[in-house]
Amino acid sequence: MTDRRTKVPITIRWTSDGTGLFILDQTRLPGERVERELRTVEEVEEAIRSLRVRGAPLIGITAAMGIAALARRHAGASETDDLAERVGEWADRLSRARPTAVNLGWAIARLREVAGRSYGNAVELAEALAAEADEILAEDRRMCRAIGEHAASLLPDGASVITHCNAGALATGGIGTALAPIYVATEQGRKIRVFADETRPLLQGSRLTAWELSEAGVEVTVISDSTAGALFSTDPPDIVFVGSDRIAANGDVANKIGTYPLAVIAGHHGVPFYVLAPTSTVDLSTPTGADIPIEHRSPEEVRRGFGKLTAPEAAAVWSPAFDVTPAALITGIVTERGIHRPPYGPALAEAVATGRRGASGQREDGG
Ligand code: MRU
Repeated sequence: MTDRRTKVPITIRWTSDGTGLFILDQTRLPGERVERELRTVEEVEEAIRSLRVRGAPLIGITAAMGIAALARRHAGASETDDLAERVGEWADRLSRARPTAVNLGWAIARLREVAGRSYGNAVELAEALAAEADEILAEDRRMCRAIGEHAASLLPDGASVITHCNAGALATGGIGTALAPIYVATEQGRKIRVFADETRPLLQGSRLTAWELSEAGVEVTVISDSTAGALFSTDPPDIVFVGSDRIAANGDVANKIGTYPLAVIAGHHGVPFYVLAPTSTVDLSTPTGADIPIEHRSPEEVRRGFGKLTAPEAAAVWSPAFDVTPAALITGIVTERGIHRPPYGPALAEAVATGRRGASGQREDGG
């Protein structure tokens, strides 16, 4: 399904009775556009772990809506305290699904807080959880739109952008983070050209970023990750936009593996490097990038990517899913509160303090 107003794909929605979810299965893109129904905690966990839903904001939204849907499903036959206890168990389980994206723990903490209040019965508890999950989704839409509006000011007509992985609509509940300014500038009548890093080993750049931009009519060129250096030496893009899974208090940024080398290349060529993320991705309790937990993926994703043997069985594989770009390589961090410049410590602390309050006062995406 596509959002009628923004024309971007709808990544997640409730089933008609609200006791389950439909997700757009991103492992099937770009070949097939298929929704998948999730009705159990095992199915929600599997969808997150196997990247059927992915991208830091969308992972958090999926966990929140998943817990609320499960609570609605079990509310009729449960005592309030028993349901609250089960919510805690689902929350524990889902919070372990992917370790780097801080939005997952952030969204789950919000549901835990709601579950900790007192209610007349289990149905009331379930409806309060669903209302909170809806609010997380609506906030995400507003934050994406606000990020897009701030960063669109960095894109003159004819600008070329390079991006890594997918920090677009497919990674959020709205118009994305790193791709949001491209959608906003396009809406405003500017022509923007995008280079999408293919993003080894799971190809989120070529499978997802190139797909959603093509669907939206934005000119996009896919390059293999190893082509970025040649591109910067021959036809340098004007600007780099990437997303993030966790931003440490000092402005170091974890994002999809391959982001750090892109920042080094951009720095060498004097091309500005921006990180775009909602304040829910900023983790003030993590002091520096060295403290960010990095997810490691199965060797099979490298050794036998998409089914074909591409490295000998005997060879070891090292496959961190994310790397850390030091704050010193980052020109600016864009949140829903604006464009933040170094030193990032005070700027991020201020943005987090006012982020949610400010975002909830703005219009919804396209509304
Ligand atoms: O492993 P993924 O596909 O979940 O990784 C996604 C990214 O690295 C994104 O850039 C990040 O989550 C930001 S999404 C707005």
